[in-house]
Amino acid sequence: MSTPVRHLLRDDDLSPAEQAEVLALAAAYKKAPYDAKPLAGPRTVAMIFDKQTLRTQASFTAGIAELGGQPLQVDGTLARIGVRESIADVARVLGRQASAIVWRTYEQAKLAEMAQWAGVPVVNALTDEFHPCQLLADLQTLAEHRGPLAGTRVAFLGDGACNVAHSWLLAGATAGMHVHVAAPEGFLPDPTVLARATEIAATTGGSVAATTDPAEALAGADVVVTDTWVSMGREEQARDREVVFGPYALDEHAVAQAKPDAHVLHCLPAYRGKEIAASVIDGPRSLVWDEAENRRHAQKAVLAFLMARSGLLASDDVRAGVGAAV
Ligand code: NVA
Repeated sequence: MSTPVRHLLRDDDLSPAEQAEVLALAAAYKKAPYDAKPLAGPRTVAMIFDKQTLRTQASFTAGIAELGGQPLQVDGTLARIGVRESIADVARVLGRQASAIVWRTYEQAKLAEMAQWAGVPVVNALTDEFHPCQLLADLQTLAEHRGPLAGTRVAFLGDGACNVAHSWLLAGATAGMHVHVAAPEGFLPDPTVLARATEIAATTGGSVAATTDPAEALAGADVVVTDTWVSMGREEQARDREVVFGPYALDEHAVAQAKPDAHVLHCLPAYRGKEIAASVIDGPRSLVWDEAENRRHAQKAVLAFLMARSGLLASDDVRAGVGAAV
């Protein structure tokens, strides 16, 4: 029997031990970015973007090249996956050309269908529901600046039903963190995601909660996180959202309610004066530039990890060149 193919479709596709392993590999790759070449050949990794991108395209392209591989950009507006031809057909075609497929799209179900047919690892580069690559970068950043993740208290302010908030619940729980989401009524996290995160937290010593009261989430927070109030695909709701989200802005008043040494994260793009004050994102607590850089290291690590676990790379190759740094 061949080894089952592993994917990163949602944050809980990685167990706590696997998440820790990916983060350790990401740290090793960061120390020696040009030394490990597990994708030498070069092996091709296809990247498909159905939504706008800057960090994801740049970090995957640079990271795949650093691993010795060949990034292949597929323009989602030309491929029109699911319209011009079925997801299953695209998956089987790309799976014969590429060693992994990275896809940014809308519904999570589309990504799951791609994974079912591709025969190679599929990585979620953001869907409406989850953004697991962002969370690996965020956790790597916090580990660098604060040390062990377990027990860290995180407050997420803003759209609690967005992809980044959902990924915080799952990935934070996996890491044994305490994640408290504060969002307006109507924008609280999907109850099924909250339930799954609660289940994971019960095994890791973490906890998750959701509230409409930002003060409740901010009290005792070590880390404060926000994201745009208007995610890609929701642009027509921008005006209405700005009104209801006002009290959840990550400004000086909000930061003052967290711990005195609290750090601030934002996945970017940021809208200064809306979800985050300029003085906060550009201030001393902000880790956003390390967070953006770490997308590359974390994504390199998860690609190599998934390929190795799928039997498509030798485990030794994943660490060759950075062995001492792990
Ligand atoms: N929630 C945002 C994240 C952007 C990286 C969006 O989906 O647009």
